[in-house]
Amino acid sequence: MYRLDRRAFFDEDVLKEEMRRVFRPSWQLLGFESELPDAGDYAVRRLGDDGVIVARDEEGRISVMLNSCSHRGTQLCRATFGNSAHFRCSYHGWTYANDGRLVGVPSLRSNYPQDFRKEAYDLPRARATAYRGFIFATWNEQAPPLEEYLGDFRWYLDAMLDLTGGDWEVYGPPQRSVVKGNWKISTDNFAGDGYHMQTTHQAAFEQGIYGSSLADGTLGKGELDLMGINISTPQGHAVRAGYVVEKANPTFERDLTQAAYLGYPPEEWPRFTAAQTEEQVRFNSHCEVVHGTVFPNAAFLSVSHDRAVGRDTDPLTKYFVWRVHTPIDARHTECTYWTLVPRSMSEEWKRRSYAFQARSQSAGGILFEMDDFENFARIDAAIGGSVADDAPTDLSLGMGLGTPVPGFPGPGRAEHLTLSEHNQRGFYRRWAELMEAPRD
Ligand code: FES
Ligand code: FE
Repeated sequence: MYRLDRRAFFDEDVLKEEMRRVFRPSWQLLGFESELPDAGDYAVRRLGDDGVIVARDEEGRISVMLNSCSHRGTQLCRATFGNSAHFRCSYHGWTYANDGRLVGVPSLRSNYPQDFRKEAYDLPRARATAYRGFIFATWNEQAPPLEEYLGDFRWYLDAMLDLTGGDWEVYGPPQRSVVKGNWKISTDNFAGDGYHMQTTHQAAFEQGIYGSSLADGTLGKGELDLMGINISTPQGHAVRAGYVVEKANPTFERDLTQAAYLGYPPEEWPRFTAAQTEEQVRFNSHCEVVHGTVFPNAAFLSVSHDRAVGRDTDPLTKYFVWRVHTPIDARHTECTYWTLVPRSMSEEWKRRSYAFQARSQSAGGILFEMDDFENFARIDAAIGGSVADDAPTDLSLGMGLGTPVPGFPGPGRAEHLTLSEHNQRGFYRRWAELMEAPRD
């Protein structure tokens, strides 16, 4: 039995502790370098429960600084994104350079004491670093380097990015929506919840919107199945990969190479294979869907959809969406969605990939996201009562039943069990470690 106190999903005191113990020490995904191509470009994001400005300064470096004036705390930048060399406070006019330095104070010489030093009022800056175009930041000066924080997950991120040659960019502005329910509900879903597919997304299955590639003649109608492999790292990160296998012979080793490339133009496939290492090809080759999480609150999904979310003539198209689930309070979460596309694809392909992502995995989604949000809101509606509060959340699915995957090319313990809460347990194990750690 693996159970969790339901207060973790609605108690504001738990969220306060999470901010101190889970978010503050962790590296968090804030966005992507391709969103800020030029000096002065900025985006306003949240790092834990603090508003921050993510900016490319005049030297081309990425800075992440508190979006709050050092004088009285006024919010400095109210735009979502833009380009500016400076941020000027709307209250008394203190002005900061786009790397966080205080550079202008009205009446400084005439009305401030002589020992007033501007340098003491620079905006607090988070540690920020980019890994393959992903911008992460943390307030924790003691945090390990990002690459160490990512641990074994880094191998999987590299493999997913190298699938198409490695050069990705964000397409279009990120979408944002606020949903009912605690931030961990949507995050644990992305970590590894294959269990909800047949009920929550039944309508999508009935319409053939998902898994249609399995029924596609190319791969053999009705003879194929998805085999789920779960990887959970000690840092709390998760990857769940769905492999196309023959029903009669469901082994990981069987190479059905087309599966990973379905949704990309066939003329690109040989180039994709050439760009990967042998181990990456083995990981990617018949992986049809992959999703997971980067602890604490980033999630991703790569999958193909077809014309069921587009026009009748639209071909099967892959999308690769990254999301961040930011707590607004214990019972509301802001989801931010970015569609990543290989830079080399045509504009038409990129637009379609973005549209297919937006029509399924976003606030405007006609399937999937709406199905999930409805259930997340129903959890929120039902768990706060005094009796409901006493009943724990269960996470026992597949416990002790997963089997190691012989020959699996990625690091960490990969286990095969298509329906399992293995990855969710890994996520909550890391969460509990941080929540229960003795205070300094
Ligand atoms: Fe910003 Fe006074 S609060 S200048
Ligand atoms: Fe779902």
